[in-house]
This record gives sequence, C-alpha cells and structure tokens, in this order.
Amino acid sequence: MKKRQLGPCVTFFPQPTTLVSSVDDAGKVDLMTASWAGIVSKTPPTMAVSLNKGRKTYENIQASGSFVVNMVPASLAVEADYCGLKSGRTDDKAAVAGLHLEPASQVAAPLVKDSPLNVECRLSGEIELGDYRLILGEIVEIHAVEAAFDEAGKMDAKAFDPLVYLGGIREYWDLGQKVANAYEDGKKIG
Ligand SMILES: Cc1cc2nc3c(=O)[nH]c(=O)nc-3n(C[C@H](O)[C@H](O)[C@H](O)COP(=O)(O)O)c2cc1C
Repeated sequence: MKKRQLGPCVTFFPQPTTLVSSVDDAGKVDLMTASWAGIVSKTPPTMAVSLNKGRKTYENIQASGSFVVNMVPASLAVEADYCGLKSGRTDDKAAVAGLHLEPASQVAAPLVKDSPLNVECRLSGEIELGDYRLILGEIVEIHAVEAAFDEAGKMDAKAFDPLVYLGGIREYWDLGQKVANAYEDGKKIG
C-alpha cells in the first residue's frame, strides 16, 4: 500500500457524531457537537469528551458537574452540523435546530429526545491537553430506544443508524453494512 505522510495532524476516522448536552448556572441548556468522544473505561463505566476550553459547553460542565452524550442518528446530520457551528453563548441551538429535550434521570443536563441513545455522565475528572480539556464522566445511566430491541433483548444497529464523522475529510456518512461479529470472527484465524 503506497502512502502519503500527512504530518502531525488530527486526521482519523471513523469518529462518532455526538451532541453533548449541558446546562449552566441559570438552567440554560446548550447542545454542542463533539466527535472526540467515546467510552474509555468499563469499571467504572466512563465516557471521555475532549473539549476546547473556550466552549460554552466546557463552562456548563464545570458549573453543573454533569453532561449527557447523545448519539446522533444519520437523519439529524444537518442539525448536528449546525450545533457544531454556533455557540450556546449566542444561539438557543435546540430551538433553532428543532431538537427536543427531556429531563435526565440522574443528572442536571437534559437528554436530547430525538437521539436514540443517551449517556448520562457525572463529571469525574479532567486532563489538560493544551487548549483542550479531556473531560471524564462516570456513566450513571444510559437510555436506548425501545424499538431497537428484539424479543431476545438484542439491539439492532439499524434502529440507531449512527452518524459517522470522517475527521480530516469533513464528511458525515451513515453506518453502512455489518461485515463481521466482534469478539467472535477473529477466532477463525487464531
Ligand atoms: C463534526 C464536528 C465535531 C466537533 N467536535 C468537537 C470536539 O470533539 N470538541 C470540541 O471542543 N469541539 C468540537 N466541535 C466544535 C464545537 O461543536 C463548536 O465549537 C461549537 O460551536 C461549540 O459550542 P458551545 O460554545 O455552545 O459549547 C465539533 C464541530 C463539528 C462540526
């Protein structure tokens, strides 16, 4: 495979597209698009989100000690892109994007109702990375859309239809096709 060196940069994919919901001291809600987000520990269940320290969302998380990571379905690509272009300092993004909020069960930050998967997090740590802060949140509850479950309780990926972000190319894609079973098909070769 002939390759081109890109130098030190942030090109890597796939990344998830998430909407991080947060609330400030006055109870005002903000939604921010974040692709530098993911699960980083099972015990305790922990989510990490890397935020530029200038984001309103960062300020809100400091204020309330909580945030919710909402998975973005492919049907909401344009709305999510908007939430990554504007700040909660100037825009009521949920209202402009037509997104609906509902109370979380454990934390002050709300859930995005239109998202099929919401992860409630309680701020548990912070790591300084230059202009960014790697925010760690202990997962205290997860809400998964009822329609995704079959009778055996197995979840169907198509019901979530997660929006995939290709960092470096600046494109959103949908999930595509299943190609293998995790923790299983690798056994065929060793
Ligand atoms: C696809 C996409 C992914 C983004 N991912 C991040 C991210 O992981 N961390 C970050 O700090 N900003 C990220 N941004 C930029 C913020 O969403 C943007 O600066 C937003 O306006 C901040 O909103 P706030 O000030 O209301 O918090 C992303 C933007 C887009 C469009």
